[in-house]
Amino acid sequence: MENASFDPNFSLSGRIALVTGAARGIGAAIADLFAAKGACVVLSDRSPAVQERQASLRDAGHQAFSVTADLTVGEELDAMVNEVHREHGRIDLLVNSAGVVHLEEAENLSESAWDQTMEINLKAVFRLSQAVGRIMIAQGGGKIINLASQAGLVALDRHLAYCASKAAVIAVTRSLALEWGKYNLQVNSISPTVILTELGQKAWAGEVGERMKEKIPAGRFGRPEEVAAAAVYLASDAANLITGENLVIDGGYTVQ
Ligand SMILES: NC(=O)c1ccc[n+]([C@@H]2O[C@H](COP(=O)([O-])OP(=O)(O)OC[C@H]3O[C@@H](n4cnc5c(N)ncnc54)[C@H](O)[C@@H]3O)[C@@H](O)[C@H]2O)c1
Repeated sequence: MENASFDPNFSLSGRIALVTGAARGIGAAIADLFAAKGACVVLSDRSPAVQERQASLRDAGHQAFSVTADLTVGEELDAMVNEVHREHGRIDLLVNSAGVVHLEEAENLSESAWDQTMEINLKAVFRLSQAVGRIMIAQGGGKIINLASQAGLVALDRHLAYCASKAAVIAVTRSLALEWGKYNLQVNSISPTVILTELGQKAWAGEVGERMKEKIPAGRFGRPEEVAAAAVYLASDAANLITGENLVIDGGYTVQ
């Protein structure tokens, strides 16, 4: 492409990217593709398995670091952001992928399951976006990508707290986009349908998943790599004018 003000191959070369929930699933796929696109990736997770992901990225010749932190613990979250900033001098990209799901009928959902869901799916997104957002504002810009869900747009059976948390993530994304556009800081969310990661398996393995699939016009679930491809686009300069958007990757599930 001639005269493009961005790399048509969506290079992320030279970017420092912090990806949460990167030990497995969608976060791991995003970290892999960001690294393949030239970013220096910092993989974050509460699981020590994140160190193996870092090692395999390094073995493949990529720049990768890892940090373990439980993002529901404020001190651990702050220490992680400070460490990444101190080590790398800047943070260009933040991907909030760490999340959980608690499945329960609404009438039986416990307060603690509600709180646990909100602590990681919503509050950690706010806390991290704020801490990293301050760094991005000071350095002249950056991009934040939040993993929301189709559950933020439509109701799913036995997903009350999850649906509420993801609808709120979409609202947080829009609010941050509104306030931080002037700082050259773009904030977007991605809303996938079912992806058969560990989290996806928990909710959609077996018969319930087959019934769900029948309702998806595309007739299938998504793959982590398909979510990662969208994240690369949103992280690249090609998406510099896109902010406050919620990119739905659902094979048409929510158009009905
Ligand atoms: N899998 C799906 O069907 C699907 C669909 C739509 C949206 N999403 C969203 O995508 C994101 C990633 O989901 P996934 O399918 O990869 O899940 P996953 O369970 O495979 O991975 C989630 C990761 O987050 C980490 N994590 C959880 N709580 C944490 C905490 N307190 N501190 C630090 N790390 C923590 C886990 O250790 C894990 O490595 C989530 O926000 C999820 O809600 C998933």
